[in-house]
Amino acid sequence: MSAVRVDPAGPLRGEVIPPADKSVSHRAALLAGMSSGTVRIGNFLDAADTNSTLAAVKALGAQVSRDGDRIVVHGVGLRGAAQPSGVIDVGNAGTLMRLLPGWLAGQKERVFVLDGDASIRRRPVDRIAVPLAQMGARIEPTGERFPPLTVTGGPLRAITYELPVASAQVKSCVLLAALLAAGETTIVEPEPSRDHTERMLTLAGVPVRRDGSRITVGGIDELQLPDELIVPADPSSAAFWQAAATLVPGSDITVLGCGVNRTRTGFIEILRRMGGIVEGALEDPVAGAEIERGEPTSDLATRAAALRATTVDAHEVPAAIDELPLVGLLGCFAEGETIVRGAEELRVKESDRVTAVVEALNALGGDAVATPDGFVVRGSGGLRGGRIDSGGDHRMAMLGAIAGLASREGVEIVGMDAAAVSYPGFLQDLARLR
Ligand code: S3P
Repeated sequence: MSAVRVDPAGPLRGEVIPPADKSVSHRAALLAGMSSGTVRIGNFLDAADTNSTLAAVKALGAQVSRDGDRIVVHGVGLRGAAQPSGVIDVGNAGTLMRLLPGWLAGQKERVFVLDGDASIRRRPVDRIAVPLAQMGARIEPTGERFPPLTVTGGPLRAITYELPVASAQVKSCVLLAALLAAGETTIVEPEPSRDHTERMLTLAGVPVRRDGSRITVGGIDELQLPDELIVPADPSSAAFWQAAATLVPGSDITVLGCGVNRTRTGFIEILRRMGGIVEGALEDPVAGAEIERGEPTSDLATRAAALRATTVDAHEVPAAIDELPLVGLLGCFAEGETIVRGAEELRVKESDRVTAVVEALNALGGDAVATPDGFVVRGSGGLRGGRIDSGGDHRMAMLGAIAGLASREGVEIVGMDAAAVSYPGFLQDLARLR
């Protein structure tokens, strides 16, 4: 396992193009695989997680090739997935594990087995098995809750489903199944979660309607994506540089072409509230009735700033879900007590990120306490530094590196290689900004 030391840094300055958005890349590959015709995907994320999705659509019969910096997918059509000879290996990709069964559930008389790495086998899939079973599908998780998961395709019926948790993965799974079902399916969200699937379906001309918290889509004959899709830079990867620029005195980092879909920019709102300086236009925070076509982008400049503590409540959690560990890191440098609550979902990510972030911050000299649905971090005037283990979680590995830059003594990160799940060039980008 790779151990990497990241020493305290002087001002970090420059421009960085974060890697392509992981969520949008998964959806682009999957929907292209489901589509009739050929789709060219520009700026597809070349990382472990999204390459698992390309491999999966290939195993299901799609043709995948490269043309310069484009990925070219010739889809099998909405009802044309082939039954693969073996297990579909999703690797570490929770999004693939949760979205793909929505499509496969409607592939009549074909059986699919999905499995993944040790972390995937600990992540619940009953959350998709329940609505898919209501739609008439046969979905068999192991021990009722976990992968490996067997999907036996069959006819599907439309349902109205109230999501028990605000999960874009579950919402997207049901949306994909709805395309194959007879009638109109409605999903009710407790809070708005990322809407990349709705936007991409809208781009493909599928009538998706939003009415407050209700999203409705009907069955279709064929899915026809535009000839070309371009993936924006990932705001979740950009967030590491926004945190670094804020915490290291004298820093000024601009991330270029960053996705600013309002369902993803919660971290920037929280950072600004804490006193952070992030310049650049975000999408209008209030969604209208129409679903937007495609993804807005912006260049965002972050400068070093003194921080004050804040409280993040449940309604803010979905738009900042993957960045909440970074809010904990910021809390160590802020004046006062930073509280994150209503975020029990953090416990079922690539690791239990409540436990992981609290243990990491305390190991580095911070003052953090776990709660059932989040954590409390008391500002301790910064972090001493020390050693942490990523536990195979890409976002914890990168958080450790940012903590190292802002610490007094540096941080050694065991398992830094996990960053390749979403950000293979992370350490190179870091070196360029120093
Ligand atoms: C994702 C949704 C979120 C997020 C994950 C990616 C997606 O998960 O944490 O990293 O691409 O739909 P949940 O939907 O489980 O909250």
